[in-house]
Amino acid sequence: MDPVNVGIVGCGNISPIYIENLSNFPATRVVAVADLDPNRARERASAYGIPRAGAPGVVLDDPDIAVVVNLTVPKAHAEVAFQALNAGKHVYNEKPLAVSRADGADMLRIAGEHNLRVGAAPDTFLGAGIQTCRELIDQGAIGTPVAGHASMLCHGHESWHPSPEFYYEIGGGPLFDMGPYYLTALVALLGPIRRVAGATAVTFPTRTITSEPKKGRTIAVETPTHLAAVLDFAAGPIVQLTTSFDIWGHTQPCIEIYGSEGSLSVPDPNGFGGPVRLCRAGGEWHEVGLDRAYAQNSRGLGVLDMVLAEAEGRPHRASGGLAFHVLDVMHAVGESSDQGRHIDIHSGFEAPAPLPKEGLSA
Ligand SMILES: NC(=O)c1ccc[n+]([C@@H]2O[C@H](COP(=O)([O-])OP(=O)(O)OC[C@H]3O[C@@H](n4cnc5c(N)ncnc54)[C@H](O)[C@@H]3O)[C@@H](O)[C@H]2O)c1
Repeated sequence: MDPVNVGIVGCGNISPIYIENLSNFPATRVVAVADLDPNRARERASAYGIPRAGAPGVVLDDPDIAVVVNLTVPKAHAEVAFQALNAGKHVYNEKPLAVSRADGADMLRIAGEHNLRVGAAPDTFLGAGIQTCRELIDQGAIGTPVAGHASMLCHGHESWHPSPEFYYEIGGGPLFDMGPYYLTALVALLGPIRRVAGATAVTFPTRTITSEPKKGRTIAVETPTHLAAVLDFAAGPIVQLTTSFDIWGHTQPCIEIYGSEGSLSVPDPNGFGGPVRLCRAGGEWHEVGLDRAYAQNSRGLGVLDMVLAEAEGRPHRASGGLAFHVLDVMHAVGESSDQGRHIDIHSGFEAPAPLPKEGLSA
């Protein structure tokens, strides 16, 4: 098939890897890049030889662009996605899908009305590491999954990020920032979550920036920075997830899944590779080799899959529905803590098909 024309809106930190991968995949071609700061877009365009660059209209008003890849900041995801969909384009958002549930739901509704697709990061669950875990679980290597444990623990980002304020605003915090990687991996492996119990805290009401250039400034913390959740999956497993910006050091693994016949150590869901480790009942832990495509940084793989799915008339894997379920669960953690009760989750999603070992081809 001829490559599909892609336009990127948002030319910040994460954009180079998308531009590189979407330029190298055979089925996608980056023809325009845009940003609120048109000069930033022009710099990217000249660095990567992209024909057109400028303000968002350069992408959104171009009738030759079929897919908008939305790499703006989270609070702009919805607005840019609505503009793309209303211009008749498929859209693929960086995580989270949106900040509010209402915006996420509107996105899926508008896409449905226009017969367009919504995709969303993270697509790391399509990498060799988590796809190997998926294959092992599907083959029964750990029997029936019954439980799990997931941890994303650190002390926040004010020691290195040049503008760390947004991590402590509403819509930030460790769950909305990093939770999508963990929750997307978990639901891709174990299916949908049916109810959530949460406990949250603001441990430090202020943060002092120690990175340049804002060294010494104080941030007022507006959102929980420690969130512990118990996730009941519809298929039965019970998983504890903790995300925190309040922890100086720890020895917790990223994700472990425990089954009736063994245990699985899932690699960092913020990456595409390994290590994958398996312990069968009565045996020792051992590493499982990754005999699959996409062990390297393949950000944009979800876009490629969406483009191919549209051409082939099949569902795409990193879907808006899956991302909405993750958004729904993240909101439920805080609501459960505030209301002192379990929150039932009513959103579902189409289970993403396993990725072929040899990768996707046009
Ligand atoms: N930086 C990372 O390592 C990383 C990793 C994975 C995912 N992400 C996600 O990618 C997204 C972008 O992150 P980033 O680190 O590149 O942020 P960034 O702040 O470096 O860049 C965001 C860019 O979007 C532009 N922008 C903001 N609102 C806009 C709008 N309405 N229209 C057009 N452009 C707009 C900004 O001008 C900026 O250039 C976020 O959703 C983030 O969660 C980032």
